[in-house]
Amino acid sequence: MTDLVMIARSLFSQGKGLLAADESVHTATARLASYGIPASAETRRQYRDLFIGAEGMERFLSGVILFSESLLEKGDDKKLFPKSLATRSVMPGVKVDLGTEPMSASPNELITNGLLGLSERLEEYKKQGAVFTKWRAVFRIDGDTLPSAQAIHENVKRLAIYAKEAQAAGLVPILEPEVSLEGKHSRTRARMVMGEVLKTLFSTLNEHSVDRASIVLKTSMVLSGSESGKRDTPEEVALDTLAVLIENVPSQIAGIVFLSGGQTPDQATENLAAITKRAKEVGAPWPLTFSYARALQEEALAVWKGKEENVPAARAAFIARLTRVSAATTS
Ligand code: 13P
Repeated sequence: MTDLVMIARSLFSQGKGLLAADESVHTATARLASYGIPASAETRRQYRDLFIGAEGMERFLSGVILFSESLLEKGDDKKLFPKSLATRSVMPGVKVDLGTEPMSASPNELITNGLLGLSERLEEYKKQGAVFTKWRAVFRIDGDTLPSAQAIHENVKRLAIYAKEAQAAGLVPILEPEVSLEGKHSRTRARMVMGEVLKTLFSTLNEHSVDRASIVLKTSMVLSGSESGKRDTPEEVALDTLAVLIENVPSQIAGIVFLSGGQTPDQATENLAAITKRAKEVGAPWPLTFSYARALQEEALAVWKGKEENVPAARAAFIARLTRVSAATTS
């Protein structure tokens, strides 16, 4: 087994998953503002440290996805974040795309940038301690018209080029084709779109000769749109999510991680538990776990509010949620 395959597989250690702490400066600023915390380089560092510095998180986390600026920052323990994670056997990873912009041919859709200069950045990130990477593409659903075939093709092509370059640099790629929860669409429509995106993704990865064994897929769950007025049961989510994954995802990949996508922490936990259970019933061929940002962070941020004296209680909220999400991977 190659080193890359070993790293990719060890992200799926029993009961463990990933924390996505890779919000861009723009997203982190908005996230902090929504809890009344003014954003600065220092409050962003404190925000990352709230989670990375939480005692005991290593019992539940195999990896943390960082934003590039965090690779060079230190926690309150005076250690660089990647080093601090590695000493606790938590693998440091990094988001390597440069965010999205409207597509010129279809301005209501987004294309992910970041291929320019990517191989140089990957070399840097590797030197700074990253062992895996992530690239996010996002697909919006609007009736039967969006996502367009063009948005799917262009975004998955970029995912494939990224994956190939990451592997060449000796870094595990996590490919995140997120089907957005936002919208009025039905769960059936979400399932169709996810099927189309995944089918196109894996045929494009083949065309680019990307090694399947060392890639990780980061995916949405199949859910009705956030403005559909429909609340899916965990069993419905599990049934449709497993069906679309089994139909479209080759068995050879290292594993699948789920994003939370704007679900509440409880929803993301309950849906993951149902998915795990269903995966066992149907004998799904890949390991599954979580790679949440909001669902793991929300409760802790509400307690923290940017105040030093709230750090212990905020970290306790984080560990409590991690305990439940971890349990959901073994249900
Ligand atoms: P959420 O869990 O908040 O959807 O974030 C996951 C992620 O990594 C988005 O890129």
